[in-house]
Amino acid sequence: MGKGVVNNERENFKNRFGVIVAMAGSAIGLGNIWRFPYLVGQNGGAAFILIYLLMMAFVCLPILITEITLGRRSRSNAFGAFGKLTGNNKWNYAGILYVIATVCIMSFYCVVGGWSLKYMADAFTFTIGQISDYSSHFSDFISSTTPPLVYTFLFLGLDALIIASGVRNGIERFSKIMMIVLFAIIVLVAVRGLMLTGSNEGMKFLFKPDFSKIDGKVMVSALGQAFFSLSIGCGVILTYGSYINDNENIVKSASWIAGLDTFFAILSGVAIFPALFAIAGMKGIAPEIEAGPGLVFITLPDIFKSMPLGGIVSILFFMSLMLAALTSSISQMEGFVAFLIDELKLKRRTGTAISFLLAFGIGTLCSLSFGTLSEWTIFGNRFFDFLDKLSSNILLTCGGLIIVLFTSWTLKKDDFIDELNNHGKLDTPRWLLDSIWILVKYIAPFAIVGVFLSTIL
Ligand code: PHE
Repeated sequence: MGKGVVNNERENFKNRFGVIVAMAGSAIGLGNIWRFPYLVGQNGGAAFILIYLLMMAFVCLPILITEITLGRRSRSNAFGAFGKLTGNNKWNYAGILYVIATVCIMSFYCVVGGWSLKYMADAFTFTIGQISDYSSHFSDFISSTTPPLVYTFLFLGLDALIIASGVRNGIERFSKIMMIVLFAIIVLVAVRGLMLTGSNEGMKFLFKPDFSKIDGKVMVSALGQAFFSLSIGCGVILTYGSYINDNENIVKSASWIAGLDTFFAILSGVAIFPALFAIAGMKGIAPEIEAGPGLVFITLPDIFKSMPLGGIVSILFFMSLMLAALTSSISQMEGFVAFLIDELKLKRRTGTAISFLLAFGIGTLCSLSFGTLSEWTIFGNRFFDFLDKLSSNILLTCGGLIIVLFTSWTLKKDDFIDELNNHGKLDTPRWLLDSIWILVKYIAPFAIVGVFLSTIL
């Protein structure tokens, strides 16, 4: 790609705001509101959050910057990018990893997207406020056969409709609206939770680290979650990076995205744990902090029920949860569709149809693994959990490792810095650019390998 030349054949996001919104739309999703809180619960609270924040700042933000840069330089999907940048097609073997990771994530993500859609529908009909036991209601629903599949199908259908309309019309416009609504609602829910008596126990759980809880497993989960939450390591951000303008300030945009994403994750924690502890205290039972994937679907409706205008809040919350899930899911599908369009020369619509069918096929197995197929386990995990852990903790982190190794092997420091500085057009301080290079070249790879070794040793 020639320096400073915008590839006119490829679609572009309109402006900085559009870029940030689309990438933040990809980043902010079920990972923040659904996955982050339950991992915090399972991994000891504040200690997990601390590791998460360190990983975010020193490993994941530099990788986010690098991934966007590789996308913009190559103007390609993740599969073809490495070969295109080096002129050596052997690198495409690495590209396969990204395609596999995207398909795995897309397939379990749409199942949870389907759950959100179902809860949104129940909120609209006000049936959600009439349930007495949210825990068994949730497990009955996800372990049934047809209903979750219908919702998964509908959720993927929405995805496909937006993807088929292209980058600017579909993805960018849609992502803008949802973010603001989501933010307002989570703040509202958090404030309500904090007002309940007993909520300070939840704040302690979130913010007072117990260092004895940190072990290899916690570190791997925190690293995997940081990757998952930023949508890095599977080429999705690289693909979005290929649509951005040559005048974009990548460092600035990436910092905004990582900042917003982290903020939303912590905010979701504050929306859930104080209320969880308070409600458990009122009922005189132990808080279900390790509730796993059901946490958001079980705790929050309970909180809403006790709120004035809880019915309306439920509608707004589950609507924004569904929309947040949708913007992330769109980016996953777009990553795969871009591969089909660029590499297999398929039309956008055909590519969209293929990803829809593939995600629904594998998604069906994920959904059934909560019910009919629950006996079938892989390394002790049901299929859904297996795909979830495999993609975040292994595929994404390996994908991130390849991105930083590739960059430090094939790009000279000056070229990397020149690219981040838009060939001298920006005035980003030199020390900042130098530090990013050090993080990319030394800190990130060692941290990723170190975290893995810590589980073995
Ligand atoms: N970051 C998204 C979320 O937090 C999930 C995601 C992962 C999206 C990987 C794209 C790629 O929900």
